Amino acid sequence: MKLILLGAPGAGKGTQATRLAEHYSIPHISTGDIFRANLKAETPLGLKAKEYMDKGLLVPDELTVDLVMDRIAQEDCVNGYILDGFPRTLNQAAALDEKVAIDAAVDVEVPDEDIVKRMAGRRVCPNCGEPYHTEWKVPKKEGICDRCGAELIIRKDDEPETVLKRLTVYHDQTQPLIDHYGKQDKLVAVDGTLSVEEVTNAIIAKLEA
Ligand code: AP5
Repeated sequence: MKLILLGAPGAGKGTQATRLAEHYSIPHISTGDIFRANLKAETPLGLKAKEYMDKGLLVPDELTVDLVMDRIAQEDCVNGYILDGFPRTLNQAAALDEKVAIDAAVDVEVPDEDIVKRMAGRRVCPNCGEPYHTEWKVPKKEGICDRCGAELIIRKDDEPETVLKRLTVYHDQTQPLIDHYGKQDKLVAVDGTLSVEEVTNAIIAKLEA
């Protein structure tokens, strides 16, 4: 199963990708997590990506496409993968189309006003990437990741002005992909305002229909 997760920043792509990766036993590949891991390790890629991420802008295609192509060529991807946050531009989608035939592009639909509320309460694990929320997904021990025990943080790009910029960038550059995959008859749209579990169940039901 080769899946793409589309959706605005904060729509729940990471949350759903983690669950779907477990369900289908395939790797979850998040370009955002890859950039953040590079930033933590202070690699040249991470430092370059930070210039864009902190402003709510997309990292240029030339830094992003080869990274994903190399990752999906690895052995653990032989039975498929879930791409979370890639492609995000029509150029990225064209590059992917050239290499692989994906099975479906899942669009997790959430209105902008809900996104702003979600981002304000988001906490993330800097170690394993697991997302939490102060109201909807509270860790068992306050401020600590249930999965790996690391201390949770607030992402720098979750500041309110940056979230608004990310939403504008999403509407301008990423939303056209909904049409792109619609034309290929690969689009699966789900209501992302339902509970986390309901969204997962809706995705699996539609993929298996
Ligand atoms: P990335 O890390 O991919 O950020 P994003 O797309 O903006 O998405 P988020 O991670 O913010 O949100 P999400 O949809 O995963 O939601 P989550 O599950 O966390 O990218 C960051 C940056 O990297 C980009 O801005 C860009 O600069 C760069 N980048 C990455 N990929 C790139 C690419 N391909 N090209 C160029 N640049 C790229 O959920 C959000 C919150 O809501 C959480 O608190 C969660 O607990 C909660 N929540 C989730 N589901 C529900 C629900 N159903 N009900 C209630 N709360 C929920």
